[in-house]
Amino acid sequence: SVDGTFCILDELINIFTLGITSAYPDLEDPPVNITLSGNNPKFGDYQCNSAMQISKLLKDRDVKTNPREVANNILNKTPTSPLVSKTEVAGAGFLNIYLNKQFAEHILNYILKFGVKPPPVKQQRIIVDFSSPNVAKEMHVGHLRSTIIGDSICRLLEFLKHDVMRINHLGDWGTQFGMLIAHLQDMYPDFKTHSPPIADLQAFYKESKKRFDEDEEFKKRAYACVVQLQAGQPDYIAAWKLICNVSLQDFQTIYDRLNIKIVPRGESFYHSRMMTDVKELKEKGYLEEDEGRLIMWPNPDNHDGIPLTIVKSDGGYTYDTSDMSAIKQRVQEEKCDRFIYVTDVGQYTHFVLIDACARRAGILSNDQRLEHVGFGVVLGEDKKKFKTRSGDTIKLRDLLDEGLKRALDKLIEKGRDKVLTPEELKQAQEAVAYGCIKYADLSHNRINDYVFSFDKMLDDKGNTAVYLLYSLTRIRSIARTAQISIEKLMEEAQKSGIKLNDETEWKLGKVLLRFPEVILKVSKELYIHSLCEYLYDICSAFTDFYDKCYCVEKDKSGNIVKIFYERLMLCEVTAKVMQKCLNILGLTTVSKM
Ligand code: ARG
Repeated sequence: SVDGTFCILDELINIFTLGITSAYPDLEDPPVNITLSGNNPKFGDYQCNSAMQISKLLKDRDVKTNPREVANNILNKTPTSPLVSKTEVAGAGFLNIYLNKQFAEHILNYILKFGVKPPPVKQQRIIVDFSSPNVAKEMHVGHLRSTIIGDSICRLLEFLKHDVMRINHLGDWGTQFGMLIAHLQDMYPDFKTHSPPIADLQAFYKESKKRFDEDEEFKKRAYACVVQLQAGQPDYIAAWKLICNVSLQDFQTIYDRLNIKIVPRGESFYHSRMMTDVKELKEKGYLEEDEGRLIMWPNPDNHDGIPLTIVKSDGGYTYDTSDMSAIKQRVQEEKCDRFIYVTDVGQYTHFVLIDACARRAGILSNDQRLEHVGFGVVLGEDKKKFKTRSGDTIKLRDLLDEGLKRALDKLIEKGRDKVLTPEELKQAQEAVAYGCIKYADLSHNRINDYVFSFDKMLDDKGNTAVYLLYSLTRIRSIARTAQISIEKLMEEAQKSGIKLNDETEWKLGKVLLRFPEVILKVSKELYIHSLCEYLYDICSAFTDFYDKCYCVEKDKSGNIVKIFYERLMLCEVTAKVMQKCLNILGLTTVSKM
């Protein structure tokens, strides 16, 4: 169907697949490669470069041919489409594809009327396991990356109407609770009736760790506490819950500030499942004994690399155990179709192992795959591990506070405090502060390490949140300063609709039409920076258009002489697409800044 969700790339792939398979019916799975042509208009808008590959395949079969001939054959068999105005063979055998302007205008008018809608996809139930800090320990910048990237992935999949479970796989179970509970009993003996004022859980953790390392007696008690906790002794469960809640409240303030929704479901959730799951793995003969531990190899005949540790020599369970139980629960009880884990790249092998062992145990089937969305380390501007000046790890709360302060400085530097009301200024400050932190993270290829720099992220030039947020408010203000209401604009749209007459209008229009294909690509590959690059492309194309084309023409004394409604409509569609992209990235937009 032809509406605002029309995906150009899919349509091109469809017609060229038809062309290629009918020109070369003997080739099994022939390559269909369609890409954007780049900046030179000589090469059309999109390009199909399958002819070279096919000609090579044919030569391997001793067929005499050349890429240009193949390209011509494909062209003759490719059905026409209202999307395409012209196709031609060029150079060594490229197929240059030119889009049809009227068709493009039609789609843009659709978006103007009905908004930016998600391209239709088969709905899935998807679990996104992200953020996942460890209770009583600090939530560090690595968790911040996971939180920001994970949230954006959820937003994208939700936009596509998938059923998304946002899961916080908290590290809330394990032997560290022994020492924490023992310390709690000493410090706050009446903790059950009087909630202890543990403001700084990290300091509390450090204190108990110190005692654990230095005091043999305490260490013994800590171990005994673990046993009681694992056995479900109510007093110990109460102490454990209390510690978890303090931690969770701390984490929640960060989520609230960043406007991130996530459901806590930590490792403890799988506690009773782990017992039955381990028993089953044992019975089915998947576990091997190794120096008192029980381990599992993905392949029993190949002991390269490392195995999972399912039961420790002291009988305790591990991170591996909880992830095995979690994947089973997610497959069998949640009936999810897709399993996404967002952690640092350092955990890549862990997830490869979980995937392989879950497959061996028959938990994952052939068409199911665990997807690890890995990301690099956060570095300071000195390219070393991100730390405070005094060398301490950076507290997320402090980081967000500094963002707020710097954002306000930036707005004041631009004189915005004189233009905006205090309320507007505050909104702009938060949008800029949290937006710049999120965008700096999302706009870099997540696999790489990334340098955290407030100076860079608050720059108002280049691919930054500040630049994009400013651009959007500017676009929005164009119609406003001409005092054109959206109703009036829609009324005019009924008469003429968008026209892409100027070269810059046509270019902008084509960028806007790429939205569905970008969204679909990112939802498959989960590299959010592609969406950021796209957003920046929109902004650049818009700037070129706006530099060249009047939207509102004024005389010397500033009176409006002429209003170009078609162009204001194009502005409106640009704003709509940008707004949608920013929503998916989790950035808050403001009408004034
Ligand atoms: N708590 C872990 C960490 O801080 C991350 C958990 C990721 N999720 C998972 N299912 N293993 O490194």
